[in-house]
Amino acid sequence: MLRIGILGLGTVGSGVVKILEKNSENIKNKVGTEVTIEKILVNNLKKERDVEIKKELLTDKVEDIINNSNIDIVVELIGGEQPAYDYIIKAIENGKSIVTANKLVIAKYGKRIFRKADENDVQVCYEGSVAGGLPIIRPLQNSLAANRIEKIYGILNGTTNYILTDMSKEKKDFADSLKNAQALGFAEADPSSDIEGYDAAYKITILSSLAFERFVDVNEVYVEGIKDIDIEDIELAHEMGYVIKLLAIAKNSSEGLDVRVHPAFVPEDHPLAMINGTYNCVYLHGDAVGQVMSTARGAGQMPTGSAVTADIIQVAKDINHNQREVQRMDSFLESNVIKIDEIENSFYLRFEVKDEPGVMAHIAKIFGDNNVSLASVLQKQKENPVVPLVFITHSVREKDLNQSLAKIKKLDDVIEIKSVIRVENNI
Ligand SMILES: NC(=O)c1ccc[n+]([C@@H]2O[C@H](COP(=O)([O-])OP(=O)(O)OC[C@H]3O[C@@H](n4cnc5c(N)ncnc54)[C@H](OP(=O)(O)O)[C@@H]3O)[C@@H](O)[C@H]2O)c1
Repeated sequence: MLRIGILGLGTVGSGVVKILEKNSENIKNKVGTEVTIEKILVNNLKKERDVEIKKELLTDKVEDIINNSNIDIVVELIGGEQPAYDYIIKAIENGKSIVTANKLVIAKYGKRIFRKADENDVQVCYEGSVAGGLPIIRPLQNSLAANRIEKIYGILNGTTNYILTDMSKEKKDFADSLKNAQALGFAEADPSSDIEGYDAAYKITILSSLAFERFVDVNEVYVEGIKDIDIEDIELAHEMGYVIKLLAIAKNSSEGLDVRVHPAFVPEDHPLAMINGTYNCVYLHGDAVGQVMSTARGAGQMPTGSAVTADIIQVAKDINHNQREVQRMDSFLESNVIKIDEIENSFYLRFEVKDEPGVMAHIAKIFGDNNVSLASVLQKQKENPVVPLVFITHSVREKDLNQSLAKIKKLDDVIEIKSVIRVENNI
């Protein structure tokens, strides 16, 4: 019999308990022995739970799990940075393998955690940390291992994908769609980590580290969220044959890694443009396999519970058969993320300008002087002296674009630079 200790009995913890209970026979067959829950750590012992659980299994003392010699696997599902990180390290030092869905801890401290696990000859599995029910960590480690992964594009945050889909379909502004997402339970009361792009940044940090065999530093990943996306941009994108998505991007080149999260124009006939609502998607390119795309619900009790329980089964199977899956993180190189200023991209730009002759010439001259070449221009008519002017640039270095925008901002006939959004034409 293998005994596990679970830290946290919230959304995901309850899902794991339900799956372990419901599929216990099947799991026993897969592992070769029974997997039982020894203890579960919670904050509040008196809280009503949405899963049936014997009272004596619950504890509010973490030592009952991480110092418990009966327990082989610790499943960390309390979330956040601390005390989750300390608990993981202490459990590893006590010889326990770890299963976690904590993207923040793995993205920030993965290097230390994996090294500590190697020193103590235990495993760390984290399938649930990226895109909930979508299998991507183990495929990168195993099924795609023969490939050099060249690039990854992900829609890795269900909350923002729901909001952008809702804005686009219902023609609502950002604030209304956010409220709607909160009412439906798709966005948290404090949605900042989702809408500011940090949640997706943790996830692409984890994926790029694994895919490119480098410990990518999350602090070097460029992050921009969706709260400035205007319904007018969504409609103009549509008119030009694009859909706006919050993309998490990771590309490997001889100059370094290009890892970033930001809203982007995606051609509307690209499969990523069709991923709607709370669905997540990973679209990657491997040198042998070519394009691979997978999509699933990226969060929620049972999809994430499914990923976490699969990790528990894998680790339990390995322990039961006296083996340890070697992950060879010791060969990973250090982070070498290219600064966003040096990245080249095509851009969508929306300005509000005075309806006067010569505006276009002034703007075009500044672009020309700063190596920004234009692919298309769209001037919309409005019945007032302020008109929107929209440009799509050819591929341009961000530094050059920013220099030209700083000068354009100072022009008398330019009222405001409303939007600057990257265009991903070559996904
Ligand atoms: N929710 C999702 O859909 C989802 C998807 C993918 C990944 N994840 C990740 O999964 C992890 C868990 O998320 P969740 O949504 O299940 O969180 P949650 O619903 O907030 O549950 C957290 C649980 O941990 C317990 N807890 C928190 N801090 C504690 C502490 N210091 N000491 C003891 N117990 C503590 C809480 O106890 P009480 O119940 O007593 O308050 C609660 O049972 C996070 O890392 C999250 O990023 C979640």
